[in-house]
Amino acid sequence: MLAIRNIGASKTCLTIDDGRIVEIGVERTADTILDARGGAVIPGLIDCHTHLVFAGSRSDEFVMRAKGMSYLEIAKAGGGITRTVEAVRKASLDELVELTLPRLQRMLSYGVTTVEVKSGYGLNVEDEIKILLAVRKLQELQPVELVPTYLAAHAIPTEYRSRRAAYVDLVVSDELMGRVADEGLAEFVDVFCEESAFTVEESRRILEAGKRRGLAPRIHADQLTQMGASRLAAEIACVSADHLERIDGGGIEALRSAGVIAGLLPGCSFYLGVAQAPARRLLDSGVPVAFATNYNPGSSMVESLPLVLSIACAQMKVTPSEALEGATSTAAAVLRREKRLGRIEKGMEADLVVLDVGSADEWLSEMGRNAVRSVLKRGQVVYESPRS
Ligand code: NIG
Repeated sequence: MLAIRNIGASKTCLTIDDGRIVEIGVERTADTILDARGGAVIPGLIDCHTHLVFAGSRSDEFVMRAKGMSYLEIAKAGGGITRTVEAVRKASLDELVELTLPRLQRMLSYGVTTVEVKSGYGLNVEDEIKILLAVRKLQELQPVELVPTYLAAHAIPTEYRSRRAAYVDLVVSDELMGRVADEGLAEFVDVFCEESAFTVEESRRILEAGKRRGLAPRIHADQLTQMGASRLAAEIACVSADHLERIDGGGIEALRSAGVIAGLLPGCSFYLGVAQAPARRLLDSGVPVAFATNYNPGSSMVESLPLVLSIACAQMKVTPSEALEGATSTAAAVLRREKRLGRIEKGMEADLVVLDVGSADEWLSEMGRNAVRSVLKRGQVVYESPRS
């Protein structure tokens, strides 16, 4: 049994047994005591949208954007996802693991205890499977809970440019999607529904096929162009529709009535220097909003979820408690783990973060400083800051 004492201004306490929260407020005798020293305790953060397994650098694209080029212009000029695909195809599974492990360790140090990881930089059987196997191996090597997503529909690979229908056939094939589902290599299927990627029709086919194979559907929707992707998300009953920088009123109403969660990625718009998704309007319309990093080498080289939440507060007019909810309980719902993760309640798994400040308001108002003292995953201390 482990007890955390002196939590926040009220100096309350919390007891954990067998990986779960068993008492809140009432002090119990415990074998181990963790003194929060007045720091707030929040649920372990859940980063529900990342492209964490990648190789190569696209820092030159960051410089190109600083000089005025857009994300789409860079992609059309041969940059973008295609470049990372080339680098990932050249990397071995072990190299991908070696590149990704330190990223996860840093994410843990920011208080992140669960991370969704998409494939989508392989775009053929061998390399899509390689990424998902790398995720499996990473799960054995470190404590952050990983949730794999199958995103072969991230881009049309160069070798299929003149025969895109054949690529969609491959994405839904027994050889690829079937294997991913049968071997339990992913829990979700995702599609980048966008003019430069997959049409609404292609996306519908891929998401329906994924659903039939037991993969829960998610979608990259309304990021760069408005083509009705949010309406498709509602029609398919996607768990989440992510990005939504260009969502319109009809799309918001479609998400609300179908109960689709909006997965917003404030770090991405910040990184690209473009307008943010309408978080306030979505929340006020009754659409649940999750926040995630979208960590990837092109559009969001941002691995700190707390920084992303601070950006959400500053640029999207959401409060720190709404931002925190978006990266805990709502993110848990996106990943279909809301019954055991994302809330500090009796019976929930003890994924917890002890901060060195007394409240979420203080934490997120200090942009970019890491205020994490300790991180617990299923009741075990898995990270302690060298500063505390
Ligand atoms: O979510 N939009 C599609 N995928 C990523 C970009 C990935 C990349 O540029 O490598 C995103 O922004």
